[in-house]
Amino acid sequence: MKIIIISVVLCIVSFTASYTDVPIIGILSQETYSVQHLFPNEKYDSFIAASYVKLLESAGARVVPILIGQEKDYYKYIVQNTNGILFPGGATWFNQSDGFADAGQILYDLALERNINGDYYPIWGICLGMELLAQVAVQGKELRAHCLSKKESLPLEFRPDFNTSKTFRQAPRRIIKILGTLNVTYNYHQYCVTEKNFTSFGLDQDWRIVSTNKDVYGLEFISVFESKRYPFYGIQFHPEKNQYEFKPSLKIPHSKEAVEMSQYFANFFVEETRRNNHSFIDWETEKNALIYNYPTHYTGIKNSSYEQLYMFK
Ligand SMILES: *[C@@H]1O[C@H](CO)[C@@H](O)[C@H](O)[C@H]1NC(C)=O
Ligand SMILES: *[C@@H]1O[C@H](CO)[C@@H](O)[C@H](O)[C@H]1NC(C)=O
Ligand SMILES: *[C@@H]1O[C@H](CO)[C@@H](O)[C@H](O)[C@H]1NC(C)=O
Ligand SMILES: *[C@@H]1O[C@H](CO)[C@@H](O)[C@H](O)[C@H]1NC(C)=O
Ligand SMILES: *[C@@H]1O[C@H](CO)[C@@H](O)[C@H](O)[C@H]1NC(C)=O
Ligand SMILES: *[C@@H]1O[C@H](CO)[C@@H](O)[C@H](O)[C@H]1NC(C)=O
Repeated sequence: MKIIIISVVLCIVSFTASYTDVPIIGILSQETYSVQHLFPNEKYDSFIAASYVKLLESAGARVVPILIGQEKDYYKYIVQNTNGILFPGGATWFNQSDGFADAGQILYDLALERNINGDYYPIWGICLGMELLAQVAVQGKELRAHCLSKKESLPLEFRPDFNTSKTFRQAPRRIIKILGTLNVTYNYHQYCVTEKNFTSFGLDQDWRIVSTNKDVYGLEFISVFESKRYPFYGIQFHPEKNQYEFKPSLKIPHSKEAVEMSQYFANFFVEETRRNNHSFIDWETEKNALIYNYPTHYTGIKNSSYEQLYMFK
């Protein structure tokens, strides 16, 4: 009897044990509208702000850039060989064919299919990337409202049941206190997702709202949401900026508490990506895919809001 029980336990453990200590995360690049002027002598197709790369690296992950405008097989390869995806913030439209939004839809559909089939493949959306996550979750329908929250640092307004959310159920009390009382979450967005559209577009079926905030006109927007079933998470504010962006006019909080809460989110998401064992076929292939193959450009010196960028042709 004992032996049977032990073997049943072992079975369950080995079924759920796929895990890696060395996660590699894909970051989706985006069109260069907001940064092309920084490079008068070069024409680039897409970029990634280095702050997102550093945020993930700070929690033990490495990064592979994901280009826009590629064939579906390319995105399939990315999902097969990485441990999760980040949709970053920035500034681009969702209506450009073969752009940020189309790539996001393909990646989301691939990730969803994997999770439905028992894999554990996380996606994290930050700011514009959170808006993208909400949009691709409703098959690409535009559901955002115009709203205005620029250079605004706010404490989260938690939903009463926030502490049962995946995002926060293991958060240290100190982090919850920081998030709930200090002006540390840095907002810089002109669109947002409201509870009204969250419900009317049917996101409330599979997703839950974890916290909200108000824009300068008092419009309430969703600041943290997560999928109920799958490891998909969205936050409207910018934890990467607390640690890695410094342009003074942006008024980004850099206090010890702001940095600690930023590190909480990085650690939370990267730990999620350790929960599958996808990997590149060998070390050489892995090395050739990493973002280390590209140089960073010091754009802070050109008065950009981004200290450093990765640029792709
Ligand atoms: C990943 O984990 C599964 C089951 O947990 C195992 O069968 C498979 O061999 C592992 N793959 C790699 C590349 O480690
Ligand atoms: C995308 O939307 C923006 C804002 O509504 C608009 O200015 C732009 O012309 C649109 N682009 C395309 C390709 O439809
Ligand atoms: C709902 O989404 C539409 C776009 O489909 C947008 O025009 C509208 O402002 C949004 N309303 C709210 C309350 O979020
Ligand atoms: C969640 O917070 C409420 C009070 O805000 C508290 O009563 C409850 O015990 C907490 N639950 C957990 C799981 O921490
Ligand atoms: C947070 O910001 C609001 C307005 O932006 C301000 O009224 C409030 O005093 C700030 N709180 C702290 C703790 O700095
Ligand atoms: C740098 O950018 C800020 C705001 O984005 C602007 O006010 C300032 O004039 C710019 N400085 C230079 C030297 O271009």
